[in-house]
Amino acid sequence: MKNYLDCTKNYSKEKLLNAANHIKSGNLVLFPTETVYGIGADGLNEKAVKKIFEAKGRKTDNPLILHVSNKDMIDTFAIIENEIEQKLIDTFFPGALTIVLKKKDIVPNIVSGNLDTVGIRMPKNKIAIDLISLSNTPIAAPSANISGKPSGTNIQNIFDELHNKVSYIIDGGDTDIGVESTVVRVIDGNIHILRPGKITEKDLKKVHPNVIIDSHILGTLNLNDKVLSPGMKYKHYAPNTKCILVYSKNKDKLIKKIQELEIDNKNSLVLTKTKNQKYFKNSLSMGDDLDSISHNLFRMLREIDTYKYDLVIIEGVKPEGLGLAIMNRLIRACNHNFIEI
Ligand code: TXA
Ligand code: MG
Repeated sequence: MKNYLDCTKNYSKEKLLNAANHIKSGNLVLFPTETVYGIGADGLNEKAVKKIFEAKGRKTDNPLILHVSNKDMIDTFAIIENEIEQKLIDTFFPGALTIVLKKKDIVPNIVSGNLDTVGIRMPKNKIAIDLISLSNTPIAAPSANISGKPSGTNIQNIFDELHNKVSYIIDGGDTDIGVESTVVRVIDGNIHILRPGKITEKDLKKVHPNVIIDSHILGTLNLNDKVLSPGMKYKHYAPNTKCILVYSKNKDKLIKKIQELEIDNKNSLVLTKTKNQKYFKNSLSMGDDLDSISHNLFRMLREIDTYKYDLVIIEGVKPEGLGLAIMNRLIRACNHNFIEI
């Protein structure tokens, strides 16, 4: 295929020159990061950024993250207002953290959804870093998916959905982490977690003890709720197949409930831990530890729809650490169809 670059073997920075030229010319490029794939455009080119919203069918009040290739770039686009923000950057960049900062005028309003802040992230993935530095501009990029669908963690899963909407595709294989970055904002000396990810509450507390987990992360949103992050308002990660999430701290109760659901729903599939597969008639394993579950989650949520089940029953995890990010995505994937016992 034209404009498809396989970086899964024999990677070198020079190979990305073509992709960088697409960014510089105002086109969209699908590229890997260590969290999920992104649909990237020149973050300072309004017309190019507009194409991202069109490609995804994304509401324009939902801001995009600006991806930088080094920490020095941050000052050009945003203001670091306090020591906590500076420490977060020093500790977690490059990595799976997006920090919401006061934006400078150079950042087009279309990037920030007309807010006075902008999310900044420096990815760790070598391909992403090289693409940004060769493009010589910050890359605005949301997760690679049509709005409302699970984020893409490999090219195969998103090719049909997106190949007609972008000018260039960089295949970097499976992404490592599998869920999107942790989004934080510092307000009045507190670090607010707006979206949980691989960088956890515990990790953030090492930088500063006051960490607040936004109440919308596991809860539902009411009509008049004020949100700190527009992304919280929208439907997310949902397969077409109906899914139900089941969680209990008590393993026996958890297994029993899933078994009952399996009996009541003949054409169903259970997504569970490898060690629990023996309890169910028809199951697929998400892995046993949180890192594997996070890595596999979106791929499995996408694959569900290819099997044609009436119901998919998903085993929840303890909502702590990376488990909080997993439960945040699963609750949404199941459209808040969640049983906790
Ligand atoms: O891991 C990631 O963060 C991936 C990769 C590609 O970097 N990107 C990603 O972008 O997940 P996106 O657009 O799918 O999610 C960004 C989230 C949205 O929920 C958005 O509302 C929130 O971050 N966000 C962005 N800028 C914000 C801002 N200025 N204030 C509050 N929330 C913001
Ligand atoms: Mg997204």
